[in-house]
Amino acid sequence: MAIQQNEYKVSETDVFVGAALHDIGYIRINGIRHGIVGGEIALELGYSKRIARIIETHIVGGISKELIIASNLDLPIQDFLPIALEEKIVACADQLVHERCKSGIYLIEDPSKNEEIAMNIYKLYEDIFYLCFNSRKETVHNSK
Ligand SMILES: [Fe+2]
Repeated sequence: MAIQQNEYKVSETDVFVGAALHDIGYIRINGIRHGIVGGEIALELGYSKRIARIIETHIVGGISKELIIASNLDLPIQDFLPIALEEKIVACADQLVHERCKSGIYLIEDPSKNEEIAMNIYKLYEDIFYLCFNSRKETVHNSK
């Protein structure tokens, strides 16, 4: 992976397993809760919490606590934002295969939040793009 070539540490296994299982929640439920339910299924099957987090945070490229409250979403009030690189890679790849941010708009069903959702996804693309084209060594060196 380009990100690894730039000396960022990424578990390819977690990315592949998380990507393969990210929509497993749909076997029990439709809609925005499929991430949480998918995470529960992964744990039931013996996968790690890291894999469960990848599944939970892939929805719409990540959902903030504030968005859950403002849009009255049927989710626990907590952040479901991709933080680990493996989480960001799977969430980003999932959004890339959807037509722009339509999946988010469909799942959130709150037109007043369309711009915020689109910006979150754009920020995720930007993060991944940066990691692909900037070496960790240069980043650390330049930040001093
Ligand atoms: Fe999904």
